[in-house]
Amino acid sequence: MKDLKIWMNGKLVSQAEAVLPVNSAAVFYATNVFEGLRAYWNEADDEMYAFRLAEHFVRFRESMRMMRFTIPYSDVDLYQAVREALSGNEAREDVHMHLVAYVLGTGLDATSPAGLYINPRRRPRVAEDSGIRCCVSSWQRTSDNAIPIRLKSGSNYQNGRLATLQAKADGYDQPILLDQRGHVAEGTGASFFMVRKGKLVTSPITSDILESITRTTLIEEICPNVLGMDVVEREIDRTELYVADEAFFCGSGYEITPIVSIDKFQLGDGGVGSMTQRIRTAYMSIVRGVDKRYPEWRTATYKGVRV
Ligand SMILES: Cc1ncc(COP(=O)(O)O)c(C=O)c1O
Repeated sequence: MKDLKIWMNGKLVSQAEAVLPVNSAAVFYATNVFEGLRAYWNEADDEMYAFRLAEHFVRFRESMRMMRFTIPYSDVDLYQAVREALSGNEAREDVHMHLVAYVLGTGLDATSPAGLYINPRRRPRVAEDSGIRCCVSSWQRTSDNAIPIRLKSGSNYQNGRLATLQAKADGYDQPILLDQRGHVAEGTGASFFMVRKGKLVTSPITSDILESITRTTLIEEICPNVLGMDVVEREIDRTELYVADEAFFCGSGYEITPIVSIDKFQLGDGGVGSMTQRIRTAYMSIVRGVDKRYPEWRTATYKGVRV
């Protein structure tokens, strides 16, 4: 299957042409900020829907603000760039994209000029439908006073990389990271939710987590207003993980990924929990636009667009 082209600084180029100089801060220090986005193909509508672009752009700019650089693109330019990356590739299937702003100067204090690329890939599957086995990592989540995980910069992800490599070496699928105070933070690229005694619980945004768009989508809309389930945001202790009835990761990339065991403690009956399944079904139907509610969350990337 052919690789999709990359949108880089205004044009679609092949993977081989999308290169960065080795002496750039982007390559050497991973001085970049990025967003991971998904777009879903809806066969009945003959349309590709990118999910919650406006919210991704807000966070993208917050990340750049914290990393002290800017890009010469308005939000309208960003919408157009995402549309071109999808319709220009004639992608008619689910796609995951990285939207990346990078710094070209050298040195730790490099701030400009900044370039931009969008790398669309055919939807990689994160997890089997049957769920994943997690461990609690001995690597601690980087704290907000070190490298704030609230922002999405490539450099942050070495923390999750170490935790993932350790988890895999120990025979697990994915780690769960604890914050400096020993409370549950999140996964390496996903927010964490559990079900205890019938209640959905997730860590607060002060637990060194990314301010996840999927997490907000579930807390503010899908759980309470579509499914009638309230979500409690509070600190989660490690041992609560071992007696949880259900748990899942959520994120643009992970979507809703069920967790079936933690540190080899089986959750519930070891299968995908019933609340997790209901949330996953509702989420997948809304992001694809099968469920037509929340049209403001879906940006059509084909209709009315000439590339
Ligand atoms: C560390 C981390 N936490 C959580 C998430 C989920 O965030 P979102 O729902 O905005 O994709 C991601 C994914 O981008 C992430 O990298």
